[in-house]
Amino acid sequence: MPSTAPATALARCVDAFARRFGGTPATVARAPGRVNLVGEHVDYCDGLVLPIAIDRDCVVAVRRATDGRWRAWSEDLQSLVELPDPAAHDSSPRLVGGEAWGNLLTGVMVGFLREGASVPPLEIAVASDVPIGAGLASSSALGVAVATALADVLSAPLFGIALARMCQEAEQQFLGVPCGMMDHLSSALGREGHAMLIDCRTLDVRSVPFPPPDVATLWVVDSGTHRALSDGRYAERRREVEDAARAAGVASLRDLDEATLRARDLPDLLERRARHVVREIQRVQSAANALRRNDLALFGMFMSQSHQSLRDDFAVSTPELDTIVEAARSIGDAGGVYGARLTGAGFGGSAIVFADASRPGVIERVGAAFQRKHRRTPAAMRVASAPGASVVPAARWRTA
Ligand code: GLA
Repeated sequence: MPSTAPATALARCVDAFARRFGGTPATVARAPGRVNLVGEHVDYCDGLVLPIAIDRDCVVAVRRATDGRWRAWSEDLQSLVELPDPAAHDSSPRLVGGEAWGNLLTGVMVGFLREGASVPPLEIAVASDVPIGAGLASSSALGVAVATALADVLSAPLFGIALARMCQEAEQQFLGVPCGMMDHLSSALGREGHAMLIDCRTLDVRSVPFPPPDVATLWVVDSGTHRALSDGRYAERRREVEDAARAAGVASLRDLDEATLRARDLPDLLERRARHVVREIQRVQSAANALRRNDLALFGMFMSQSHQSLRDDFAVSTPELDTIVEAARSIGDAGGVYGARLTGAGFGGSAIVFADASRPGVIERVGAAFQRKHRRTPAAMRVASAPGASVVPAARWRTA
């Protein structure tokens, strides 16, 4: 019987490569999106974060080109871009409008040049199962997948933290987002069955066991309001926490505690922004401890507290995200919900609902509450923790 399941990003990518460029790629690589469990807007303050890599991949297929051109095709955007020779590139992103996604690829190639690799003309195809603009770090997955494929095709020894840093720089310089490193680290270093406790100051990464899907369900509920981080509001928050650190007399908010913050008597807005960061960093440590002890109810409580803080002090939630979180909270422990919060930068995107897998009906009730208030049903998907980026063995993509 023919399968009716939608083709995976792997199958779509390899198929798109053949259609666009003919034949088969030299290398295929994948990199996952992420869900941050707790620790939001603290990676760029040297804080602690607790993300998982998720079982949704961006897949990239690459081959050296023989026509002297650098071309890339996005199957999801149905967009073919011609990239400038990265060696002749003046380090400014050149593509605009519907082609702007290609700038990230140029940024990654420039990163390889800076590492001393030479980057010959290339044919690249991309397909992704990480929804765009939903707060699941789709652009970081793209950058990390491209970098993983290029490291292989160029025989450049770049992986792990160094690869993540290069992708972060590419995103900052070529997509114009002053992002932290959490998303790239999660995508590069994820471990199946585990969350990652990342100290963004030291880049120390520890694995924390994350319950399997038959024990706890992690739902991602898309609020349907999508945003681009390059629209300026993310950068505005970054500036505010830098202003708060300066006003409090510390190099970074990681160095501040709550009592000192109160004593500094900052202007109200800066005090609220800083209070979120200081408490959130504490919360990540406590949440990781709860997860280690498998106390999922306590862990969920920290998730919910994190949402309140992002809503009230950091002001990055939206009415739609609040509806999802409120609906989940009102089901509560009694109905099998451990906790809920927005994930990622906010300003739209997705909320996560963490629930007891043995209790049915949770997501239907959340969907119904959302429908009553916003007159539409939000898309929801179940995600599991997954391994970080890798080259896909040919035997696997040839049969995808
Ligand atoms: C985006 C950024 C990350 C991080 C989160 C908020 O996903 O790319 O670096 O700052 O927002 O926690």
